[in-house]
Amino acid sequence: MTPMESFRRECAAFFDHLFPDEPRRLVFGEGPEENPVLMLIGEAPGEQEALQGRPFVGKAGKNLDAFLEAVGLKRHDIYISNVVKVRPCKISPAGRVVNRPPTREEKALFTPWLMKEIALVRPRAIVTLGNVALQAFLTDVIGNRHGRWSRADIQPPEMESFALPLFALYHPASVIYNQSLKPVYAADLETLKMTFEHPDCML
Ligand code: URA
Repeated sequence: MTPMESFRRECAAFFDHLFPDEPRRLVFGEGPEENPVLMLIGEAPGEQEALQGRPFVGKAGKNLDAFLEAVGLKRHDIYISNVVKVRPCKISPAGRVVNRPPTREEKALFTPWLMKEIALVRPRAIVTLGNVALQAFLTDVIGNRHGRWSRADIQPPEMESFALPLFALYHPASVIYNQSLKPVYAADLETLKMTFEHPDCML
């Protein structure tokens, strides 16, 4: 069994034990598992991701394709994951199952697993999408941090801490809801692309 396989098995067993009455499918990260140039971290899986068991497919996958094109990378170049690995959902007044933001408890339960995942993958840099992903690393809001490099402390439980360069982006879904963020997001992607062309600009 590879270290990533045992990580996934351990993580699934932890949540099965914690929530024996609500078995929910965990959506793990995917992509190159050894030192990829980038690890992209989103918030949590949505409906399609939970159905297919893969991060950033369906509508979110289209956002991801636009991101990759803008920075000149391919999906298979990067490792893609989420902070929370189950779909946070609720029943709407109309009786439909709809997405909701992850709760504080969900974020707190999943963050140590994210840290372990990063320690296994050891990407060269992290790109976070939105506040939930940013706040897994830094006590700040996306409005202050987007479009520039910060240094993130990775503190996996029972392992040695280390630092990684982190680039914060707005979540593409928030750009859809708030069209005024569109030029900001585009400028941030341009900055990110430039850093890939001049890697010494990374922190
Ligand atoms: N949004 C996210 O943040 N992650 C996904 O996997 C899908 C949508």
